[in-house]
Parts: sequence; structure tokens; C-alpha cells
Amino acid sequence: MRDSAMIHILHVVGARPNFMKVAPVIRAFRGRAGTHQTLVHTGQHYDPNMSDLFFQELDIPQPDIALNVGSGSHAVQTAEVMKKFETCVSEQKPDWVLVYGDVNSTLAAALVCAKLRIRVAHVEAGLRSFDREMPEEINRIVTDQLADLLLTPSADGDRNLLAEGIPPHRIFRVGNVMIDTLIHLLPKAKALQFDNLPDKFALVTLHRPSNVDDPPALRAILGTLDEISRSCPIIFPVHPRTRQRIESLGFRFSSTARVVLREPIGYLQCLALQSRSLMVLTDSGGLQEESSYLGVPCLTLRENTERPVTIDQGTNVLVGSDMAKLRREVSRILEGQPVARGPIELWDGKASERIADAIWKTQADFRNSSAPV
Ligand code: UD1
Repeated sequence: MRDSAMIHILHVVGARPNFMKVAPVIRAFRGRAGTHQTLVHTGQHYDPNMSDLFFQELDIPQPDIALNVGSGSHAVQTAEVMKKFETCVSEQKPDWVLVYGDVNSTLAAALVCAKLRIRVAHVEAGLRSFDREMPEEINRIVTDQLADLLLTPSADGDRNLLAEGIPPHRIFRVGNVMIDTLIHLLPKAKALQFDNLPDKFALVTLHRPSNVDDPPALRAILGTLDEISRSCPIIFPVHPRTRQRIESLGFRFSSTARVVLREPIGYLQCLALQSRSLMVLTDSGGLQEESSYLGVPCLTLRENTERPVTIDQGTNVLVGSDMAKLRREVSRILEGQPVARGPIELWDGKASERIADAIWKTQADFRNSSAPV
């Protein structure tokens, strides 16, 4: 039987971008007496190099509960998480469920909790691309409407939530928790040795449906990468979804291309390669932030971003699907033109402590007043 003054926090993670967000939050709560933590892994990502490797490198404890949902259409995957998580959270009876980011597991867990009236805190709340073609945008909007506590990384997040009618007392600007992990592990990443790494190279990652599920768009990107690689070698760790699409397209890089395709890499290698690269070409949200922190130019193959601080204060430039713009921006970087960049507010390695503070404060207010959060 747990002490009634204890707080039981249940974290839900499922996909690769969740893992670097949960790691520092678990550490922050571990440092606070009176917290009991349970970690649930939905199994949305299950390949060893999409999941287990991240647990090892980020020093995340083994999940207490694995739901093993695997892949499926959006509806199937979301429904599978909901069915299994409902049983799990009903048995666990946590005081708070923490959900992270914008993946299908995030939305599924938030929806289950809202129906069971279990409090949910959303880490990385308030981000908006204003593009409902992105499945993640739907996940963000719905999760934020359901969450009791909205833990935002930046001022734009607060503004977006207020504009959607979220009461201000539910919003806590805590900063960027992914940067906590980056700061914690950068020395270890920098110490990694690589064989045959070119002096100058571009790191490429691609997995968004808008880029990889549309054959003409994917062909145009791969053709442009082929061309770019002749003036700047490319290292390209390939997401499983992207590998399937490249194979079904039957695309082959030309014999003069300098493109190294790799299996998906772990967190430390990804950080090390970003920090040593001349530029990052990506459609990932996380890499836009990490490269901005590292001061490495980032060209984003998307029409919009839910992380505008990476453009206003970081190193990010949106090139969308404009391959001429991509070539121009690459040339500009190769000519050594400096990128604008300033320190970004609350990217200081302490977001996870502020998250723990926000939960404790809200829980204490709740116990003192019995008012709904
Ligand atoms: C998911 C997230 C996306 C995040 C990305 C990071 C949603 C809607 N999308 O996209 O926000 O940026 O993770 O990677 O939640 N697969 C494997 N092995 C795995 C996992 C997936 O082979 O371990 C393959 C399967 O064929 C699967 C496909 O990749 O169908 C896509 O996986 P899924 O989890 O549906 O979406 P991601 O594209 O990874």
C-alpha cells in the first residue's frame, strides 16, 4: 500500500522521439522523495535500433509495462494502444500520466485518461505547424485539448494554447526537455570515434509521409541529394519506412554520388554526427532543435515547422519541396556564409526540473483545495 502523500507518476512512451524526452524527466522525479514512477512502453517502435538502443544510451530504466502494439494504420495503432492502455492505467491508478510529444501513442494515452478522469500532463504542449495534413498536428491539437496540465517548451506554445481557449492556469512554460538530454550527453557523444568519416559532410534524415510516401516527391529529393553529394558527401541513416519506400521506387544513386546509406543510428551517434557535420538536411522536428543548439545549419524539407524558434533564433531554414532552393541553400553553406543564431530561452538543461516542480505544485494545489485542475 502506498503512502497517500506519495505521488504516482506514470510515463507513456512509444516511439523514438519520446525516449530523449522521458529520460531527464524520470531522473528529475527520481531525485524527489515521495515519488513513485511507472514506465509504460506502447511498442509503437519495436526494432532494436528504434527502441532498445535508445533505452541503453539514454539510461532509461526497462519499462515496467510493455503493451507491444507494433505497427498499423493510424486508426489501428491508436486503437490498439487505447485498448491495452485502458486496462493498464485502470490497474495502476496513477495520480498523473505524463505523455510526450506528438506521436500516436501520445494521443491514445491522453484520450484514455480523459475518459477515465485520470490527470494528464502533456510534455511539449502547444506546438503547432498549422498543417492538418500532418498526423502529428492532429495528435497535438487533440492531446492539448484533453490534457490537464500543459508543459510548453516556448512562448509560441503558450500563445497557441491561449488562442485555442486553454485556461492560463493550466499552462506552464518549462522549456525544451530534449535539450536537457542533449546537454547531458554531448560530452559522451563527442568522444565517439568513427571510421572513415569525411572532413566535411551533410547528415540527412527523412521519414515524413509527405516526403517519403509520395513517389514523385521522394524521387525529386533523392535525385537532388545525388547531385549535392558530389560537392558535399552525405551520410544518410535510413528510417525503416523510408527504406521500404526507396526500395519500392527502385531508386539507385548514380555511380558518382557520394551517399552513404546506413541503418537507423542511436542517439549518441546521431548527436555526434550532427555536431561534426557541415549541415543537416532533415524533416525531423528533433533534428531542427538539436542542430540549432549545436549551431549547425539545418535545411528542413518541410513547408512549415511547429518549432518556429529554430528559425527565429536557431539555424533552421525551411526549404519545403523546392529543390532549387535546397541546392541554393546548400551552396550558400558550402561558401561558408555564417548562420544567424542566438541563445534560446529555456534551452538550459533544466526543463525536466521545472516539469517536476509544475507537477508537484499542481498536485499540492489540488490536495489543498480539492478543486479540479
Ligand atoms: C512516428 C511518429 C512521428 C515521429 C517518428 C519518428 C506518429 C503519427 N508518427 O512516425 O511523429 O517523428 O515516429 O521515427 O506517431 N517500423 C519499423 N520498425 C519500427 C517502427 C516502425 O520497421 O520499430 C516501420 C513500419 O513499417 C511502420 C513504419 O515504420 O509501419 C512507420 O512507423 P510508425 O510508428 O507508424 O510511424 P513513423 O513514420 O515511425
